[in-house]
Amino acid sequence: MSATMRRTLLSSAARLQIRTPVYTSLKSRPLFRITVRYSSTGSSDECFKINPDSITIFDKSYPSDTWTNVPPQILSALPRKLHLQPSHPIGILRTIVESRFPSSTYARHNTLPAIVSTAQNFDSLGFPMDHPGRSKTDTYYVNEKTVLRTHTSAHQADMFREEEKPGFLISADVYRRDAIDRSHYPVFHQMEGARVWDRKAYASSEELVAAITEDINNIPPTTFSVTVEDPNPPHHAERNPLQPTHSAPEAEAVAAHLKRTLEGVVAEVFGRARQAKIEAGLLTPSTTEEPLKIRWIEAYFPFTSPSWELEVWWDGQWLELLGCGVVQHPVLSSASPSCESKLGWAFGLGLERIAMVLFGIPDIRLFWTRDARFLEQFGEGRVCWFNPYSKYPPCYKDVAFWLPQATEPAAGVSAAGGLGEMQNGQVFHENDLMEIVRGIGGDLVEDVQLIDEFTHPKTKKSSKCYRINYRSMDRSLTNEEVDNIQEKVRQALEKEMKVTLR
Ligand code: PHE
Repeated sequence: MSATMRRTLLSSAARLQIRTPVYTSLKSRPLFRITVRYSSTGSSDECFKINPDSITIFDKSYPSDTWTNVPPQILSALPRKLHLQPSHPIGILRTIVESRFPSSTYARHNTLPAIVSTAQNFDSLGFPMDHPGRSKTDTYYVNEKTVLRTHTSAHQADMFREEEKPGFLISADVYRRDAIDRSHYPVFHQMEGARVWDRKAYASSEELVAAITEDINNIPPTTFSVTVEDPNPPHHAERNPLQPTHSAPEAEAVAAHLKRTLEGVVAEVFGRARQAKIEAGLLTPSTTEEPLKIRWIEAYFPFTSPSWELEVWWDGQWLELLGCGVVQHPVLSSASPSCESKLGWAFGLGLERIAMVLFGIPDIRLFWTRDARFLEQFGEGRVCWFNPYSKYPPCYKDVAFWLPQATEPAAGVSAAGGLGEMQNGQVFHENDLMEIVRGIGGDLVEDVQLIDEFTHPKTKKSSKCYRINYRSMDRSLTNEEVDNIQEKVRQALEKEMKVTLR
């Protein structure tokens, strides 16, 4: 990775208040190897079974190995497919986005399997071997060569190869090990879109550029207007380079088509979000008169260049919506010889964060509830403001511990594993702790925060204290029940992360 690229990544990460669901941030990485608790095997209505040497998922068997780290509660989410439920907020939003893409041009793929190869998820997209996304602390591995897709881009190359239409839209569940809080959940949903043009269909580059530009007129108009800030040049030699296979007018035409397409999506979605807020009496007429405001930011992805993120001004802050860019030519050319002559754009957007804003849903766990008081509030094709049925009391429990002294990097964390947070020779990765807490507390865990850390001046040992906030979405928890869970969490941290409880 070049120094410039690293700088862009870091500044982009620093700018964000909430971690982005796109692969832009450089994260610290672990040395820990976590033993996944395989005590629970799938019950009869589960889609998986965990055997001593293999995992069977939807009747297909995968040998397990030292990379295997996918826990049962994550596998249980595989059949849920919230994006396919027409009256679920995730399904409603999916349909609104789809309405912006004529099906004559954009094929729909909404049921692609979540278990993919590392070749699909990473290699086909040009992820470097040391990219943090490949790490066991960020990704759920079924085994060394098989993962739960971490993004819908995992299907790009297959779609470029197989799809006959010039464009496609994918919606799917994706999986990432992550922090626990109101806006992060290890399973979420993304939509991927792409559009390509084949040089072979045009007599010259000028004709190709004219056709792409002309096609911008075919983007369906929206009833909502937006103000767009796009302060950067369409490409930049260091920060956001043009690809060697593209002329400047070609890349600029593709970028303009991409940007106008996505501006239409955002206008439609956030125009409707505003309407829902007005109907709920949450917006005053003066604020509704302002046009929606969006802005383009330069970004970096291994599989597009130039690349951008799109943000919308919402509730007094910039909210990051999606990542996109001009498809890296090697992604196309290695997908198929017939794609050698193609160029185009791709984008990926996370549905949960947008649905939270659109429907006024305060906690990401609510999407997973089976409580009728939640589900019955929503109907197909309708955007309405969520009416919280109750908020049960929180219960806070702290856990403090000394970090272990580092020894040799654990086996199974290879070149793709990378370095963890080093503190005086001690290593620790927060996602491993999150996974343990989530594995035991499940959806009763609302939030996990680091509240204190220090290094002992004499022993140089480091201590951390985390506050776990337990709260059910559906009922009041008893103190005894929470104490019980907390005790299991403490024991598991001691056993699996080798920390010393304080
Ligand atoms: N797959 C990327 C992510 O999840 C988003 C993306 C898709 C970016 C397509 C560019 C093009 O972070």
